[in-house]
Amino acid sequence: CGIVGYIGHREAYPIIIKGLQRLEYRGYDSAGIAIYDGNSIKLSKTKGKVSDLKEKIENEISTDGTLGIGHTRWATHGEPNDVNSHPHYSNSGNLVIIHNGIIENYDSLKKELIARGYTFKSDTDTEVLVNLIEEVQKSNNLKLGKAVQIALNEVVGAYAIAVFDKNKPNEIVVAKLGSPLAIGVGEDEFFIASDASPFIEFTKNAIYLEDEQMAIIRRGKDIKIRKIKSDDLVAPYIQELQLNLEQIEKGGYEHFMLKEIYEQPRAILDTFRGRLLSNEAIIKMAGIEDNMKRFLAADRIIIVACGTSWHAGLVAEYIFEDLARIPVEVEYASEFRYRNPVISEKDVVIAISQSGETADTLAAIKLARSKGAFVFGVCNVVGSSIARETDAGAYTHAGPEIGVASTKAFTTQITVLTLIALRLARAKGTISSSEFRQHLIELETIPNKVEEALQSDEAIKVIADIYKDSKNCLYLGRGFNFPVALEGALKLKEISYIHAEGYPAAEMKHGPIALIDEQMPVVVIATKTEHYEKVVSNIQEIKSRKGKIIGIVTKGDVSVRELADHVIEVPDTLESLSPLLTTIPLQLLSYHIAVMLGKNVDQPRNLAKSVTVE
Ligand code: G6P
Repeated sequence: CGIVGYIGHREAYPIIIKGLQRLEYRGYDSAGIAIYDGNSIKLSKTKGKVSDLKEKIENEISTDGTLGIGHTRWATHGEPNDVNSHPHYSNSGNLVIIHNGIIENYDSLKKELIARGYTFKSDTDTEVLVNLIEEVQKSNNLKLGKAVQIALNEVVGAYAIAVFDKNKPNEIVVAKLGSPLAIGVGEDEFFIASDASPFIEFTKNAIYLEDEQMAIIRRGKDIKIRKIKSDDLVAPYIQELQLNLEQIEKGGYEHFMLKEIYEQPRAILDTFRGRLLSNEAIIKMAGIEDNMKRFLAADRIIIVACGTSWHAGLVAEYIFEDLARIPVEVEYASEFRYRNPVISEKDVVIAISQSGETADTLAAIKLARSKGAFVFGVCNVVGSSIARETDAGAYTHAGPEIGVASTKAFTTQITVLTLIALRLARAKGTISSSEFRQHLIELETIPNKVEEALQSDEAIKVIADIYKDSKNCLYLGRGFNFPVALEGALKLKEISYIHAEGYPAAEMKHGPIALIDEQMPVVVIATKTEHYEKVVSNIQEIKSRKGKIIGIVTKGDVSVRELADHVIEVPDTLESLSPLLTTIPLQLLSYHIAVMLGKNVDQPRNLAKSVTVE
C-alpha cells in the first residue's frame, strides 16, 4: 500500500491525489482520502484506482483544507471494496487513520474491543488499530501521540501509519515498523509518504523514519521523533534527496514500462560507470574491496530474492559458478526464511531487490545476519530498508522503476552481479587476465548492443499481433538463458494474463511437450552458445509436434531460421553476458501483447511493485 499526508499552508487535496498516483505502484485495489476542512473531516474512498477516487471526490465532497491523508491499497485483510478501503475512522469519528502493513494479532485485539462495546464496519486490521488507539486515548485521557505509542506496543505486525484527531487538527502522528515512511520537510509544511516521490517537487529535504520510531508532526512547528518502545527522543536526521521529477514521469512514452525498457542502455552504462575500468583492467567496487576476505573465505554464496530479482539471482548462479568457481544456491526469500536453513558465519548471502523493501527478502536478511552470515545487498532504491539492513552492498543505479513489471532493474541487477563475479574471479585467480580483460571490454559494448536489440521492436510487434490471442505460451532456454526463459514467461503472465511457463529446454521432453500442438507458441532462446546444437534439436522436437516457434537467435543465424516460424536477432556476445541481450525482445514481446489486449501495462491487476507484506 502507499500512504500520503500533508500538513501546512497549501491545499492538501491536490498534493495528496497526485502523490497517491505516484504511489500507485505500491497497490491500486482501492484508494481513499481524508481532509480536515477547518470544522470536520471530509472522507471519501472507493474500490479501484486513484483516478476513480478523483472522479468520485469531485462530485462528493468539498476538497478544501490544509491537512489531509490518503491511501492506495493492496488488499491483505478483507476484499478490495469501498468499506475496506482506507482511511478508517475510529468509533467516535474523531480519529482517522491510514495504514500500510499487517497487524497480525488483530483478531484478538478486535475481540477485546468488541467486548468493550466497539463496533466494526470493515474486515480490516486497520480499523482495529484505530479503535485500539481510541480506547487507549479515552480510558487514560491521553494525547494522541502517547495513545498511538501505547497502542503500538500492543501490536504484533508491520506498519507505516498516519493518524490525526479532528479535535487537534494541527498535528499528524506517524509511526513505522517494517513498512517505509518518509517525511518531507518544507518551509512551515510537512509531507508524509511511503517514498519521496509525492513531495519531490516541493522539497528535497527528507527524514526517513527508522523501524520502531514514531513522529509527531505539528503544523508550522516541528517534528518530534521518538522510539516507540523506549520513549527516547531521536534527533531528526534530514537528508537531501537526489531524485528529480523527470525521473518519475513518462517523458513522452506511452507507458512507464516502455520507457524503462528503452532506458536499459543508459541504465546498464550507469551501473558499471566508475566501477569497470577497462583501460586499467580493473573492477572497483567499494563494498567488495572492503569485504574481500569475507567473500574469499566463503564456502558458498546464498542468493535470496523474490520475483524478477530471483531470476537475476539464477542468472548470477551460472555466472558466479562459471567465472569465480564459487558454489551458489539461489533461494526464494519466502522459502528460505521459514525453512530453518543451515547458515553459518562462513556464508555470504547476497540479497537482491529492486525496491529494497520486499518484506520476505528483508526477513531473510535478518535471519541470515542473526546466524552470523555476511549479507551483501544489491538494491536499486537508495536508502531503502534492505540497503540499510545489509552489511555492505552495491546499488544498481537503474533510476526509479515505476512499471510494475520489472525490466531495467533485472538487466542492471545482472550487470552488478557480473561485476562482482568478475572481481571475485580475478581475486581468486579462476580466470586468466586475458579472459578477465575480454569480459570487461565486452561488457562495455553491451549498452550499444542493447540499443541494437531494441531495434527489433517493429518486428516484435508483428509477432505479438499473431500470438496475442494465445491461451498459453512456453519459453525455453538453456544454461545462462534458462533463467531468461523464466523471466520471459513471468513478463507475459504479469501484464497480459496469458498463462506462460519457462522451462530448461531439455526438460521439455519430461512434461511440457505434452502441451505442444499447432496452437502453442514456443519462444526458444537459441543464441550461439556451447549448447546451440542441443537447442536446435529441441526446436526440431517442437516442430515435429507442429508447435509455433519464435526463436531468439544470434545475428546471422542460419540453422534456427530454417526451422522457426519467426526469429528475432540479438547481437553476438560472450555467453555469460547474453542474458543482457536475450531478455530485451522478451520484454518487448510481452509489452506489445499486453498493449494489444488492452491491458493496463503499468499496473497489472492484483500485483504491486513493492510487496511490503509477507
Ligand atoms: C513484486 C514485483 C516484482 C518484483 C518482486 C520483487 O512482486 O511485482 O516485479 O520482482 O516484487 O521485488 P524487489 O523489489 O524485491 O525486487
